[in-house]
Amino acid sequence: MAHRPGTVDSPRGVANVFDPLWSALEPVGRDPRTGGYRRFAWTREDHTLREWFAAEAAARGLDLVEDRVGNQWAWWGDPDAAAERGLGGVVTGSHLDSVPDGGAFDGPLGVVSALVAIDLLRAAAAREGWQPARPIGVVNFADEEGARFGVACAGSRLITGALAASKALALTDADGTSLAEALRRAGRDPHALGPDPQALRRVGCFVELHVEQGRALADLDHPVAVGTGIWPHGRWRLDFPGEANHAGTTRLADRHDAMLGYAAAVLTARAAAERHGCLATIGKVAVQPGGVNAIPSGVTGWLDARGADEAAVRATVDQVRDEALRAGATVTEESWTPTTAFDADLARRLRGTLGAAGPKGRPDGIPVLGTGAGHDAGILANAGVSAAMLFVRNPTGVSHSPREWAEPDDCRAGVRALAAVLRDLAGEGA
Ligand code: GLV
Ligand code: MN
Ligand code: MN
Repeated sequence: MAHRPGTVDSPRGVANVFDPLWSALEPVGRDPRTGGYRRFAWTREDHTLREWFAAEAAARGLDLVEDRVGNQWAWWGDPDAAAERGLGGVVTGSHLDSVPDGGAFDGPLGVVSALVAIDLLRAAAAREGWQPARPIGVVNFADEEGARFGVACAGSRLITGALAASKALALTDADGTSLAEALRRAGRDPHALGPDPQALRRVGCFVELHVEQGRALADLDHPVAVGTGIWPHGRWRLDFPGEANHAGTTRLADRHDAMLGYAAAVLTARAAAERHGCLATIGKVAVQPGGVNAIPSGVTGWLDARGADEAAVRATVDQVRDEALRAGATVTEESWTPTTAFDADLARRLRGTLGAAGPKGRPDGIPVLGTGAGHDAGILANAGVSAAMLFVRNPTGVSHSPREWAEPDDCRAGVRALAAVLRDLAGEGA
């Protein structure tokens, strides 16, 4: 399904390349009833997306390297030689997987924009004799959303060591399939999983372009903003015990109903989030045995908690944990990402580049945003990689939903901004 790259040096410019790439991805994993996407790690859909990425890299003559975890890196230039010189490459990209019934933009916008930005730079190289002094890489991170196995940004957490391979391999999906088994079925060696310092050494800096996931840019006269940081956030699994019995013959006094403790925890999450000024969501639940006429013998809920302040997020989670423990539940922290500050110098430089290309010719006025959404850029930043983000305006302000959107003009502005940033960071070569 690879499309031969069109030429960006045409009257339709960026759209000439962007649109066919976007159209090729559109049908993959799309639920025709809702228009949302189900692209989960190590499934058939994921395989199709990975093949697409590999083919688009090949069509551009980029060298495709997979790290120990299965993240795909497509290189223009030799990143190992650059790493030897202590520089590393300039990397962009994002992810292609989705949440259940997710939008088209979260992830793919960053990957498609990266490929088109490469085409723009290649065109500039041919036209102006410009050559990058540093290699440029495009990455497709594996399992960013954690929709199947529960841990978000699994690909970047694993290569940086933020997630232990032993813990990751034991994670299971809704059908009880472990990540180890899913990898085997996808033709991969689960024993390969683990930190990959060599892959990381190749990354001199990382700039992830992403659709904005709230309304921060919706009413501003700017299609692109610079991301400066990510709120602390985490996921907790709550397992409530109960005893299955007949819904019609078991007296209320004799029941041990797992749903009651779960329901109390959901209400506590909302109240605690309000009290501490945070966000708390229980958006996924599994009920055993799952019969309308059977008392639940077990309920598992997953809590997602985030906020501007780490202590407030912890206080929110503690309150939910106490409520769950009172109902006999076990509470397991599945992931935690502390407050993430992107590289301030890099963010300033991105602002400078965007500003220089803007009407004022200056960085002031280019919006800067922090975000409550998690990203691989945050995981890399916390591992010591110089990282920052670009956000493309989302007029609906909605994300993780089919209503997620970015106007075509804004997508093209994002590509041009990314190309300018890559060109600046990769510098002038002989
Ligand atoms: C990823 O999109 C997250 O913020 O959960
Ligand atoms: Mn997402
Ligand atoms: Mn994303």
